[in-house]
This record gives sequence, C-alpha cells and structure tokens, in this order.
Amino acid sequence: MAYETIIVDVSDHICLIKLNRPDALNALNLELLKELVTALQDAQKNDKVRCIVITGSEKAFAAGADIKMMSEQNFVDVFLGDLFTEESDAIGRIRKPIIAAVSGYALGGGCELAMMCDFIIASETAKFGQPEINLGVVAGMGGTQRLTRLVGKAKAMDMNLTGRFMDAAEAERAGLVSRVVPTKKLMDETMSAAQKIAEKSLITSMVVKECVNRALETTLTEGLLFERRVFHSLFSTEDQKEGMNAFMEKREAQFRDK
Ligand code: CAA
Repeated sequence: MAYETIIVDVSDHICLIKLNRPDALNALNLELLKELVTALQDAQKNDKVRCIVITGSEKAFAAGADIKMMSEQNFVDVFLGDLFTEESDAIGRIRKPIIAAVSGYALGGGCELAMMCDFIIASETAKFGQPEINLGVVAGMGGTQRLTRLVGKAKAMDMNLTGRFMDAAEAERAGLVSRVVPTKKLMDETMSAAQKIAEKSLITSMVVKECVNRALETTLTEGLLFERRVFHSLFSTEDQKEGMNAFMEKREAQFRDK
C-alpha cells in the first residue's frame, strides 16, 4: 500500500515504520495515525513479520498531536468524534512486539506513541515531554496514565504540570527508556534488538508481551497466576521442546512457531 505520511519496509522478519512528516516534525495528524494503524495491522497479519520498529527522524520522533488540526476543533467535534480513541486502542491491540527508536523530540502524542510501544531505545539527543498544559489541555493518549505507571507520580506530575522536557539520560534513570545509544547508532542498535526478538519463537514473544503488560493491569497475585499458567501452557508447544532440546544438544534453537 502507498502511504503519504509513513514509510514502511519489511525485511528480515522486521517491519520498520518511519514516521514521515518532516515539515511538521512528524506531528500526528489523523492521516498519519490511520496509516500507522493500517501498517501495524498489516504487520500483525503478515506471517513474515516477527518484530515491529517505529521510528521518526533524527530531529523528531514526533512533536505531538497535530496542533494545527486540533486548533480548528471544539469540544463537540472531539467528544462526538472521540478524537484519538480508535487509533490508540488499535495500536494497543497489536500483539507482536513493537520497539520505539526515538531520536530528538518525543513530545505530547509523540511521547505517548513511544510509550504505547513495548520498549523505547533512545538516542542521546532524545527529549521526552508532555507539554500539553502549555496549550491549555492535558495529555490525551496516555501521558498522565502510562507515564505515571512507567516513571512514578513525582516525575509524571512534574512533566505534565510544568511541561518541561526530560533528556535521554534522565529518561533512562527514570525507567522510561530501556537504553540510550549514540545517535548515529540508534537504528543499528534497534534493528539488532529487533533481530534478536525475531529469532525467538513468535508464540513466546507474543506471550511475553501479554504477561508484562498484564503486570500493569492487575494485582501481583493475579499477575503471577496468569504468568505461571501461561508458562505451563507453553509446554504444549513444539517450540518449548525445540528450545530445551537445543540447549541440551548445545546448538542454536530453530523455532517454528508451533
Ligand atoms: N503540531 C503541528 N505542527 C507542529 C507541531 C505539532 N505538534 N510541532 C511542530 N510543528 C511544526 C511547526 O509548526 C513548524 O511548522 P512551520 O515551519 O510550518 O511553522 C515545524 O513543525 C517546525 O517546528 P518549529 O519551528 O517549532 O521547530 P523548533 O525546532 O523551533 O521547535 C519544538 C521544536 C520544541 C518541538 C516545537 O515545535 C514545539 O514546541 N512543538 C509543539 C510540541 C507540543 O506542544 N506537543 C504536544 C501537542 S498536543 C498533544 O500531543 C495532545 C495529546 O496528548 C494527544
């Protein structure tokens, strides 16, 4: 499919999606969000894809929801149209692992999109923020909810109330990003992480995603029971036999998603 606002490339079992509105620092308008959802759903259906990467440009992952688009709307428009609900829910329903490779600005909806991914690899120049308060609104795609779960109340309040930006080092200390790498190496490091994930059993990596996400939704007792039962159920797969036999035979496992 031909896209106007993103560039999609599938190779070596990885679907790489590059946000591509350079003139607007990849601001998320509805066209971009809808194209992104279509690309992610295609990647979910494509048997060749085992891991997904979302990235932007060196200057901006995404500088937020498109302010020009929103400035023309009133409460009735956004409430009745349920602005951003369908798109963010659809992104949350993608079951394959998604890595965000973030360089430059990840602000507002950009930070929220990165947090919808399963983990974030940041370049040294990455800047995260929820500056919606400067526009007279609050975050609308998870900036008060996912950020609080990821970095805790103190920093989430600070970011959302002051609108200040967090640099990559602080984001790593706070647990928002999994690692920080030199800007020139961002894509190599991210694609290498994606490649490692692509080599695992897709069944297992999709189960890991469900288990870790469950930790944010439920009590420890329920989460541990969910994890243990899923662990038990994986003993019914050929990939469990292959993984354990390969270890015993001192060779690399060849997973077949069965
Ligand atoms: N929406 C629309 N256009 C945007 C944009 C956005 N979020 N962010 C940047 N742009 C546009 C600018 O308008 C500018 O376009 P023109 O050249 O046509 O004027 C172009 O991108 C380059 O931006 P700047 O000239 O401002 O670049 P800069 O380097 O001086 O500053 C910046 C960069 C600090 C990121 C600044 O652009 C900025 O503050 N952007 C807005 C960030 C923001 O408030 N994001 C939150 C949006 S609301 C939201 O996301 C709601 C939600 O939770 C769902």
